[in-house]
Amino acid sequence: MNRHGLYIQLFSLHGLIKGHAPELGRDADTGGQIKYILELAVALGGHPEVERVDVFTRLIRDKKISEEYAKPVEMLTEKVRIVRIACGPGKYIRKELLWPYLDEFIDNTFKFIKKQNRIPDLFHGHYADGGYVAMELAAAFDAPFVFTGHSLGRNKKAKLLAEKISSEKINKHYKIDKRIEVEEQIISQANLIITSTQQEITNQYGLYQNFHRGTYEVIAPGVDLETFYPYYHNQLESQSNDDEVSRQTRVGLLRELYRFWVAPHKPFILALCRPDKRKNIHGLIEAYGKSRELQAIANLAIFAGIRKDIQVMGDNEKSVLTDMLLMMDYYDLYGKLAIPKKHDFESEVPELYRLCAESGGVFINPALVEPFGLTLIEASACGLPIVATNDGGPVDIVKNCTNGILVDVSKIDTMGKALINILADRIKWDDFSCGGINGVRNHYSWQTHCSKTVKAIQALAPSNTLSEISMDTHSPVRKPFGKRLTEISKLLITDIDNTLVGDNEQLQTLLHLLEGNKERVGWGMATGRSLDLTLDIMTEYNIPMPDVLICSVGTEIYYGPDLRTDKGWQSNIAHFWNPEKIKKSLEDLSFLTPQEGEGQRRYKISYYMDDDDGLLDQIHQCLHGAKLRYQLIYSHGKFLDILPYRASKGKAVDYLQAKWEIAPQDIMVAGDSGNDEDMLKGKQRGLVVGNHSNELKKLKGRRSIYFSKHGHAGGIIDGLGHYQFI
Ligand code: GLC
Ligand code: MG
Repeated sequence: MNRHGLYIQLFSLHGLIKGHAPELGRDADTGGQIKYILELAVALGGHPEVERVDVFTRLIRDKKISEEYAKPVEMLTEKVRIVRIACGPGKYIRKELLWPYLDEFIDNTFKFIKKQNRIPDLFHGHYADGGYVAMELAAAFDAPFVFTGHSLGRNKKAKLLAEKISSEKINKHYKIDKRIEVEEQIISQANLIITSTQQEITNQYGLYQNFHRGTYEVIAPGVDLETFYPYYHNQLESQSNDDEVSRQTRVGLLRELYRFWVAPHKPFILALCRPDKRKNIHGLIEAYGKSRELQAIANLAIFAGIRKDIQVMGDNEKSVLTDMLLMMDYYDLYGKLAIPKKHDFESEVPELYRLCAESGGVFINPALVEPFGLTLIEASACGLPIVATNDGGPVDIVKNCTNGILVDVSKIDTMGKALINILADRIKWDDFSCGGINGVRNHYSWQTHCSKTVKAIQALAPSNTLSEISMDTHSPVRKPFGKRLTEISKLLITDIDNTLVGDNEQLQTLLHLLEGNKERVGWGMATGRSLDLTLDIMTEYNIPMPDVLICSVGTEIYYGPDLRTDKGWQSNIAHFWNPEKIKKSLEDLSFLTPQEGEGQRRYKISYYMDDDDGLLDQIHQCLHGAKLRYQLIYSHGKFLDILPYRASKGKAVDYLQAKWEIAPQDIMVAGDSGNDEDMLKGKQRGLVVGNHSNELKKLKGRRSIYFSKHGHAGGIIDGLGHYQFI
């Protein structure tokens, strides 16, 4: 067991999450998953072996929504917090539009974690977006990564294609291929995937190429049993949970329902879902509308989310709600069908279930597919028998609880018959009601969920991975870069050609020195070379993998030991980068010869150009004329590099400094030529080697730059001493 209790970080990025009066049902992104996360977090926090739980979500500053979503930290309990991290625009955007900002989210979370002085024992991602973030962070800190999908892209895509929507449209609106690609990666990398049902594994994850690489465990979510208690508690005075507030809620609900019904004392059939086509509300109205018998024995109440003005709602919602009203008219269900305009999820729903149970009613979930069916479990916990689809989650639920009847909901008659079957048979009703109350307590409590989860997490203890690495005696255990860069207190960044290499003896002395001081001092290289060419020279001179590699003149950053790309940097520099247009604008300049092979990178266009006054001006004129934004770097009298305006070796160093929160005076940068100039001019400690090229002479006399008399690695060693790094 852990010396401390477990520290768990949950990642759930989209939607609106807050602990106080959560606005569940407010929009398509703020539904079941948000509720799951909030309850899971609090329940995990209550587990004796858990010390701390943080729920990471997006910080949103938007006048249209509550200011509470702009609070960086919100305490849920003593041990559980919501941590909000900014990324992308301040305003609230739907989940499909978050992809471009996730790397920024990761960067900002790094900073947050660094301040915690404790690396979590688990990164647990929810949904593809949260999964991506958790996966990247877990890799950086070499901590276990667990994933809960909630829903997956491949099924969604198949469904949309079946609705005859073109792939192009699906991608434009839902960014579905991006989501699927990320999900494939998550499946192969997660240490564990938690699902709610067995069917989710076979029917949903089963569609993925990496399915067999995944490790799965079914751990059903829990229900808040203090809220969803049985209806008869209210009737038995001695154990009544009833307080004035819940009495008021009940009176309010009844008043609302009675506006619709002429015979209000009949049992009622209850449906509760978002106004979404897939929920099959029209199927239910049709079943009720066509059956005189059903209408005679029971009323119907459909709660389909909060609505103010149907006219201004989204297309899907609008058409579902309009259909509802039209069908009510068509089957003449006035006086029998209640379609209340709003309900407050948190306080009203449990009371609604209990009212329905007291009336002798039935809860129906008419959705064609129901991956899990949380509402079925909650309704059952209150003692309400259920009718649902015989596909997906409900199959497990009814098997565990014997609490109702499953039907093929696409057959309207069957749905009606199942409802009558329960409503008209009091003995059956009682059996289902008690079955639900007891079954939910045994199978679907958050306590059960959490003890299974904690067991699974403990089995993933990071010591397993570490011992695996140390099996290989050639590579002594190396800390993952996230851990390392949080722990070091000094960082050396050096150019390679003519700085680090050039004097072999001094190079070996320097490498030895760095190895001896590695607890305190980290190091990296910044070079014009591409990654491949960098690895070539490392092999040639037997240079071990450093902590950081800044390649291709600062346009690429990689972390050792396994060369993970810093995607945050990539998305940062991509801004206004238009390589095609740049090449086109320079096409006619005959004094430029494009570099071959590795010279051209995604964010770097390079040429050879002989030194000649005035040529650089011509290039600037061409690029300015085309209104392009760029950064131009000329070095060694022959290399011309054009980069995104936000990129350069120096800017990459600034980025590392900010990301890993290292003070500028604790970073030393070393170089010899023009392509080190902007890096040397930064706020960090600069070191120019004795063998520097003429281009750097102009920097002499600057206070933050030390010119060593020694050449190559000897100069670096001198600089490390000068700045008291070593
Ligand atoms: C390296 C690169 C080359 C670049 C030069 C200057 O030699 O391979 O593409 O132009 O550095 O930065
Ligand atoms: Mg150099």
